[in-house]
Amino acid sequence: MIPGELVNLCAVDRPDAAVLHRWLNDPVAMRGWGVPDQTRSLSEVGRRIEGWLAEEGERGRPAALLAEDLDGEPVGLVVLAEEDAAARSVALSLLVGDPARWGQGYGADLLRTALGACFDAWGFHRVWLRAEAGNERAHRLYRSAGFVHEGTLRAASFFDGRFGDVLVFGLLEEEWRGRL
Ligand SMILES: CC(C)(COP(=O)(O)OP(=O)(O)OC[C@H]1O[C@@H](n2cnc3c(N)ncnc32)[C@H](O)[C@@H]1OP(=O)(O)O)[C@@H](O)C(=O)NCCC(=O)NCCS
Repeated sequence: MIPGELVNLCAVDRPDAAVLHRWLNDPVAMRGWGVPDQTRSLSEVGRRIEGWLAEEGERGRPAALLAEDLDGEPVGLVVLAEEDAAARSVALSLLVGDPARWGQGYGADLLRTALGACFDAWGFHRVWLRAEAGNERAHRLYRSAGFVHEGTLRAASFFDGRFGDVLVFGLLEEEWRGRL
């Protein structure tokens, strides 16, 4: 377990499929991931978990972390992807699964705790994230964690019947250490 202040992070495992299935089918939560109108079967969620477990075996670190609040209730998810081993770079995707729990500091603590693990435990030098252009909550969260808006991928997503821009944010290890 990786302890934070409001959440603790644990490697995702097979019994987490039901809660992940609920979150990954929530249209409000999934709007932040740019896929508000998708539906995923429990079997597909199970396949994703199997993929994350296989990656954990290969890389020696979890590929997905479940965030639990201090009562042990699942509250969110962090996925690590697109690792570039030579550049020591990794992309994160964040989710506080139940929109009713947004705005209470879970996202910030989940990100802070994941960053500590990325830089201190797993030796990454760069962590980056994407966010839809309209996802101001995420932009504010990333900026307040020290991320820099590095660029915009034009018309890189499609939902609600139109193309949308996607912003890329990055944080380097030295920038993160300078804020501690
Ligand atoms: C983005 C997300 C992780 C934020 O989680 P959260 O628990 O609401 O975050 P917090 O409560 O810690 O708040 C984070 C920041 O958002 C700000 N915020 C809260 N409500 C806001 C709103 N309505 N509009 C803009 N910013 C808002 C908070 O003030 C805080 O900024 P601050 O530290 O400068 O005050 C969560 O909304 C989520 O899971 N969304 C769906 C998935 C997603 O969009 N993921 C990001 C792309 S990968």
